[in-house]
Amino acid sequence: MVSDMVSIETVCVTGAGGFIASWLIKLLLKRGYFVKGTVRNPYHPKNFHLKELEGARERLILCKADILDYESILNAVRGCSGVFHIACPVVNDSKLVLEPAVRGTMNVMNVAAEVRVRRVVFTSTMAVTYMDPNRNPDKVIDETCWSDINYAKAIQDWYCYGKILAENTAWEVARKRRVDLVILLLNVQSCLSLSILLYGWT
Ligand SMILES: NC(=O)c1ccc[n+]([C@@H]2O[C@H](COP(=O)([O-])OP(=O)(O)OC[C@H]3O[C@@H](n4cnc5c(N)ncnc54)[C@H](OP(=O)(O)O)[C@@H]3O)[C@@H](O)[C@H]2O)c1
Repeated sequence: MVSDMVSIETVCVTGAGGFIASWLIKLLLKRGYFVKGTVRNPYHPKNFHLKELEGARERLILCKADILDYESILNAVRGCSGVFHIACPVVNDSKLVLEPAVRGTMNVMNVAAEVRVRRVVFTSTMAVTYMDPNRNPDKVIDETCWSDINYAKAIQDWYCYGKILAENTAWEVARKRRVDLVILLLNVQSCLSLSILLYGWT
């Protein structure tokens, strides 16, 4: 069970209405954080559940923002000490995924640098580590492994290709502009078990 802690920090969560972001916001609110969650359409019913979360009335602000629009993200991140950059289309369509993955991540990282947040946490995926046809099958996969970007492109795995580019973009801006960056390598199982571990099945 998550312990109730009190925090007065404000953090920004991009793509607030999505699966992982919604669980994260529930956890942050429970821990006493103030949260600015970005949604592209605050009036869409798919985001209504956020307002029902415990503590949301007092400590959750939904900001209309698109990660492709620098000013809207700047507005959302202003006043925050940290950013969880989670927004990204989870689809295998180059037209839908590549621009938000790359330019969206660049915008969020540059905003984080401009606002001087203390840390950015970026949700990447396990897929950026193991997709390499030349990988030694006996090698244990960890965060030092990289998928072969040319292979991802060749097999038209645009989601994986986009996430590799996005992670590279995040590291590049972090190094150049001295942003403290943490990357999480998630997979479906870890996401599901995390939510079950934290809150049970309901
Ligand atoms: N779920 C998994 O098993 C898994 C595994 C590995 C990694 N991840 C990573 O975790 C993150 C979230 O995944 P999820 O499963 O929670 O996805 P999800 O439920 O589909 O949520 C994605 C979110 O991204 C937002 N988004 C997309 N394009 C945007 C844009 N241009 N500007 C602002 N917001 C935008 C969507 O907002 P709208 O509602 O406005 O479209 C949505 O809220 C992604 O970065 C994904 O790569 C997920």
